[in-house]
Amino acid sequence: MAQSARASAKINLFLHVGDKRPDGFHPLQSLAVFAELGDALTAEAADDLSLSLAGPFAAALSGDDNLVLRAARALAAKAGRAPTAKLTLTKNLPVASGIGGGSADAAAALRALSALWSLDLDEADLHDVAAGLGSDIPVCLASLPRWMEGRGELLSPIASLPHLPLLLVNPGIAVPTAGVFAALETRSDVAWKLPPDRFRDMADLLRLLDSTKNDLEAPARRLAPVIGEVLTALAALPGALFTRMSGSGATCFALFPDDESCKRAAAILSAFKPGWWIAPTSVPEFGIVHEDIGQDIGPVGP
Ligand code: C5P
Repeated sequence: MAQSARASAKINLFLHVGDKRPDGFHPLQSLAVFAELGDALTAEAADDLSLSLAGPFAAALSGDDNLVLRAARALAAKAGRAPTAKLTLTKNLPVASGIGGGSADAAAALRALSALWSLDLDEADLHDVAAGLGSDIPVCLASLPRWMEGRGELLSPIASLPHLPLLLVNPGIAVPTAGVFAALETRSDVAWKLPPDRFRDMADLLRLLDSTKNDLEAPARRLAPVIGEVLTALAALPGALFTRMSGSGATCFALFPDDESCKRAAAILSAFKPGWWIAPTSVPEFGIVHEDIGQDIGPVGP
């Protein structure tokens, strides 16, 4: 039976990056969340391995060396079987845009193929396969809010997060992750003991976000100055509570108090910037958000 898996957009609500390690990767600390919006992947039984691309951003990808195919081959090798499947990827998210599209697609392939092939791999094995394919792929396996550390593969759960209406905007420029890391000049201390993990409402979250940043924003803006224009446009939208770039860019996000104001803001911006990718979406509520109303978690910060 065909298996389907959603590949949700990943948003780094903050991203602190430290000094380059001897292995060439940078240590980081981040709070990653996943939007309702995403790519879609299906896997069907077949005699060989193939990938068909569909959706608005299909043309930006090559089907030959797609991360999805590499994920299929790595999973099959781990399971000791042939990598046979007909994969279809509907690409709704812009490519190389800081919202983990390729990583989410690969994680979705690992999940869909584990089901299609009735594999009995445990979570640790799947995590190892994911980490071998890319730094952001482990967090995309569960696609739930997580603290990320190490080079991205060390994950800790958070207890609760409210529903987050958010607007994603990409100016149509692909920014290669490695180039942004290479252009990084100012780094953060990434020895922050993990901050409170229970966010009752938007105000709780905004307190954390106000004391954090995305270290990749400055180098990404040097490589693609239009990112500054996106952030200014987002901040000027009625109702926007907070704006920031995600991952290595160029996609930026704004948080809104409710879904209606987020959609209204998207309509306003679309009228001014018809060439930009402008996508209102939300992060679903996670955990028990309202359990301890009345108790203050206190100030947060590094
Ligand atoms: O792991 P992934 O293939 O997604 O990383 C792409 C590139 O981004 C790496 O080759 C590296 O240059 C950079 N990177 C890094 N530190 C990380 C994650 C990625 O320097 N923690």
